[in-house]
Amino acid sequence: AVVVRQRMKSTSKWARAMAILKELDDKCGTPLGKLRQVADAMTVEMHAGLASEGGSKLKMLISFVDNLPTGDEHGLFYALDLGGTNFRVLRVKLGGKEGGVVQQEFDEVSIPPELMVGTSEQLFDYIAEALAKFVATESEGLHPEPNRQRELGFTFSFPVKQTSIASGTLIRWTKGFSIEDTVGGDVVAELTKAMKRKGVDMRVTALVNDTVGTLAGGRYYDGEVIAAVILGTGTNAAYVERATAIPKWHGPYPKSGEMVINMEWGNFRSSHLPITEYDIALDEESLNPGEQIYEKMISGMYLGEIVRRVLCKMAEEASLFGDTVPSKLTTPFILRTPDMSSMHHDTSPDLKVVASKLKDVLGIPNTSLKVRKVIVDICDIIASRGACLSAAGILGIIKKLGRDAPKQGENPKSVIALDGGLFEHYAKFRECMEDTLKELLGDEIAEGIVIKHSNDGSGIGAALLAASHSQYLEEDES
Ligand code: GLC
Repeated sequence: AVVVRQRMKSTSKWARAMAILKELDDKCGTPLGKLRQVADAMTVEMHAGLASEGGSKLKMLISFVDNLPTGDEHGLFYALDLGGTNFRVLRVKLGGKEGGVVQQEFDEVSIPPELMVGTSEQLFDYIAEALAKFVATESEGLHPEPNRQRELGFTFSFPVKQTSIASGTLIRWTKGFSIEDTVGGDVVAELTKAMKRKGVDMRVTALVNDTVGTLAGGRYYDGEVIAAVILGTGTNAAYVERATAIPKWHGPYPKSGEMVINMEWGNFRSSHLPITEYDIALDEESLNPGEQIYEKMISGMYLGEIVRRVLCKMAEEASLFGDTVPSKLTTPFILRTPDMSSMHHDTSPDLKVVASKLKDVLGIPNTSLKVRKVIVDICDIIASRGACLSAAGILGIIKKLGRDAPKQGENPKSVIALDGGLFEHYAKFRECMEDTLKELLGDEIAEGIVIKHSNDGSGIGAALLAASHSQYLEEDES
């Protein structure tokens, strides 16, 4: 009788696990019709954000970049890229139309987590110090010309209200950063002060978002690039807008008639988004509750964490891992997206990658194949939802630009530059995003829309923009 009762108990537990899985799958559903609604909502919010300051959750920030690289840029420039899990310093020698990128060197440093939530001075000192070290390694060939101050393009991947091409105030932190005293201040001034403290003689001549850097880097190599999307720790997009379509812009009318807009689409939200209880709890317990809702459903910082939350519920309510909830499983952010991706891509018949991740990352040994399969299903549901939603966002931009329905006789090619670890390393995510975008566009239109990986375009892009805004430019041209 005891055995029978236990068997019944375990059958009903399994049924409960299946019910949780089914509910997750239903709530995360992204049929094409829903994705079209998301895309249309994105287009609507783009219009609203361009119409007036504060007109939408989409900030549609003016980048002050009204000219993208032409290929003429030349000289030695530095770039600094802050905003993901790592920060990079880069120096490139640009050789104009003939030479292109003659030579480049870079260094990558991880940001100690405590600096992401410490003080502004600590963070900027750390960055300036790394920059000082990097400058000290300048080789013979990669040296600025004599009597010339070093110049830097600063890629700062957070929402910034630009006051010029080389200044701007931080609106708020996103992703894992939260440093109260930086908000509202000029980030270029902060960096400049830190560089002084660390003895680095360098001038910031361009302050750009990573999406804007990626757009600039992408355009340098391909004249048909019209937008850039980052799918990494966070997610965001930038694109080239007609100046006449930006009612809130009261500055001088750009000669090019164009302006690059940093959408800050991570903060998009809409009643059409397939939100679950896990997303709501994740948001409430995050560093920035109520903000970056779209980002929290898509980007690398959060996907693994959503999966962890689902597993937690299954452990609690369906004893998925035995009678007690494994203690590591209750630790926020312990399951990183790269681990989720490895489990998701496990093709071994007994899912041994899943087994080893469960053991090593979550301290859960001895899982049955049946349980491991459930875990792969959860990864698939969460990654596919994120990928589909990002495809819908891209469709929103294409629609805003009218490139979803080219006029008769016109067949413009539109290239979208993509970068970020999620896009680069999570194959199933990338494939799902690309396939979904194709489906949304339909075969004919899809032919003219190209997704192109722009490998670290944002660093090069920032250096290119530093070059085209150099203080020596007129001197150089004369
Ligand atoms: C976050 C930032 C945004 C950045 C994106 C990708 O969404 O707010 O500025 O572009 O992450 O790094």
